[in-house]
Amino acid sequence: MREDTDPDLKRSGQLPLVLQRISGGVLSLTLNRPEKLNSLDAAMVEALHVALDMHGDHPDVRAIVLSGAGKKAFVAGADIAELRERRRDQALRGINSELFDRVASIPVPTIAAIQGYALGGGCELAIACDLRVAGTSAKIGQPETGLGIMAAAGATYRLPLLVGLGMAREILFTGRTVGAEEALRIGLVNRVVDDDQVRPEAEKIAKRIARNDSLAVRMTKAALAAKFNNNGSAQILECVAQAVLFESPEKFRRMDEFLERKRGK
Ligand code: COA
Repeated sequence: MREDTDPDLKRSGQLPLVLQRISGGVLSLTLNRPEKLNSLDAAMVEALHVALDMHGDHPDVRAIVLSGAGKKAFVAGADIAELRERRRDQALRGINSELFDRVASIPVPTIAAIQGYALGGGCELAIACDLRVAGTSAKIGQPETGLGIMAAAGATYRLPLLVGLGMAREILFTGRTVGAEEALRIGLVNRVVDDDQVRPEAEKIAKRIARNDSLAVRMTKAALAAKFNNNGSAQILECVAQAVLFESPEKFRRMDEFLERKRGK
């Protein structure tokens, strides 16, 4: 398999967008675009699909840890420059929601290791995972409404399952960021550790899961999914609602404002 230490890639100066490593039954995938806070552009979405094609069903893989490269972010959301250009038809295609649904339905347990920002699609990716380990620097939220769009890749049905409907409404309507301690208190993350321990702790939990009977763990995940992953109409509504928002002048105004602010920095 391709390792994150692959000497050919290192020599060529090209590191892959998703770093991959298997050890002790645990597949670690690291989103590797730290200069853009691991934001999800089309290439990153594709790279994660490829990584899951390669290893998602591998019999040696008993748990998966997802993390972001660098210290600043797990994933700071979908790439706003790309989002600005997406229109109705791309929204209807559900590019991110398709990926996150795939993550949610991986047969083995998945753990998001969150250091720094997990915003927008980053939060939705984290909540598509089965468990979340956060570092003390974690800042988690769904700022989409401030950008004239909505969180439409699972947040409307996954977030309430974790934090309850009232808190999900608050997070989604206000777009505010939740820090690590609050995230732990409201059930958004499973545990909080020092930042440098986030990935090791997630891998420790994954290894513990990997020691259990793989079939029994998969069956347990499947049984939970049968009850809690039936999101059909909510998924369709998210896509259609986002398609409407992707055409709105306010979306363009707000995203232009963000992009211009970053350009003028
Ligand atoms: N899409 C595209 N680029 C992003 C991004 C995103 N979601 N989040 C961060 N980046 C880029 C920045 O534009 C910047 O690129 P540059 O150096 O080429 O200008 C780089 O990542 C570093 O981010 P920067 O904004 O300089 O870091 P910061 O510490 O000042 O701010 C955030 C961090 C997370 C508060 C800020 O980047 C932000 O608000 N990002 C958008 C978050 C968001 O709304 N996500 C949901 C999208 S639906």
